[in-house]
Amino acid sequence: MKRHNIMFADRTNWNRTPNRLSESLAALRAAGKPLLDLTVSNPTACGFHYNDREILQALNNPEALLYEPNPKGLESARRAVADYYQARGDDASVEDIILTTSTSEAYSYAFRTLCNPGDEVLIPSPSYPLFDFLAEIQDVKLVRYPLLYDHGWQIDFHALEQAVTPRSRAVIAVHPNNPTGHFTKHSETAKMNAICSARQMAIIADEVFLDFALDGQRAPSFVADAPALTFTLSGLSKIAGLPQMKAAWLAVSGPRESKREALARLEVIADSYLSVNAPVQLAMPRLFEQRHNFQKQIMSRILQNLAELDHQLAGQSECSRLVVEGGWYAVLRVAVTRSDEELALELLASQNVYVHPGHFYDFPSDGFLVLSLITLASEFTEAVARTLDFLER
Ligand SMILES: Cc1ncc(COP(=O)(O)O)c(C=O)c1O
Repeated sequence: MKRHNIMFADRTNWNRTPNRLSESLAALRAAGKPLLDLTVSNPTACGFHYNDREILQALNNPEALLYEPNPKGLESARRAVADYYQARGDDASVEDIILTTSTSEAYSYAFRTLCNPGDEVLIPSPSYPLFDFLAEIQDVKLVRYPLLYDHGWQIDFHALEQAVTPRSRAVIAVHPNNPTGHFTKHSETAKMNAICSARQMAIIADEVFLDFALDGQRAPSFVADAPALTFTLSGLSKIAGLPQMKAAWLAVSGPRESKREALARLEVIADSYLSVNAPVQLAMPRLFEQRHNFQKQIMSRILQNLAELDHQLAGQSECSRLVVEGGWYAVLRVAVTRSDEELALELLASQNVYVHPGHFYDFPSDGFLVLSLITLASEFTEAVARTLDFLER
């Protein structure tokens, strides 16, 4: 055994060897080759126009010179979160909201509140790869429940119920899911609540993409009280396109007694860190206002890119896209002539186009590519043209 394997915790014993795709990407970048990037997810680097002056002024508040520690976060900031829900027709009380620096941190609070080491949390598959790390760091075991695709995505409830064990503590719903882009439907929310409340499990609802519905309709949040104890997670990172501000939250809902107990426990965790800084908390009401300008631009980009994708797909027969209802990504279904990783490597090497293979997101088989719809429109058009041209060869 290597000496440092004795020194460090097993949970940090990750395989840190870069995968072949990231190695090729690094080589291409080092060689200064121009790259068409269909994986972008950082909204601050995608050509959107932010109200710089207003954002900077919001941070410049003399009240930040006084330290007012509050485990749940400053009331004015929590009120801004409650107002956000109210404006979209959902109802969350200021007292049921706890601020965190990121949705990722909110996950860690939820996991620590609910799980003993080795307890299980159910997550949808496919979904976002960060969950593996978030869970491992908290000694939580992730168990996958499949999503089925048939003219649209849906939860396989039979498989979900079969995946439940005496150690299951919670079910994660990503609403809408990344990268499948489907919302949890009303009947699915009801069924998930019935399953979780009957088995003393909580729901963790990740709603970072909630406002990005392609049909312009407002999908209801999980934040309303329902039969199961529910932790609803979101933040300004996606809602207002401000990931650098590190402003997020966790809202607790559900039966009165378990909600009260969960909040009391969460408050102790939050009090141990007091992690959200004063300037950002004070700025939150004004930063929330920025979402209108941001969401208008990003929705227009997403719809434009999706229309362009459909236009180009109509001219060929090699691949198609899956139904998407919301979020920032589209999934292409391609013929399985090689592994998705091989395909992504070849696209990178021969076309200078960078796409994520489906297996990054735990798709059940090869034959899927994930494209970011927030890519600059001109870059998106060219990258899709090169991709389809390559697939037709
Ligand atoms: C589904 C999902 N949840 C959470 C996050 C992380 O959000 P935050 O920046 O608030 O930690 C992301 C980021 O891409 C995401 O896609």
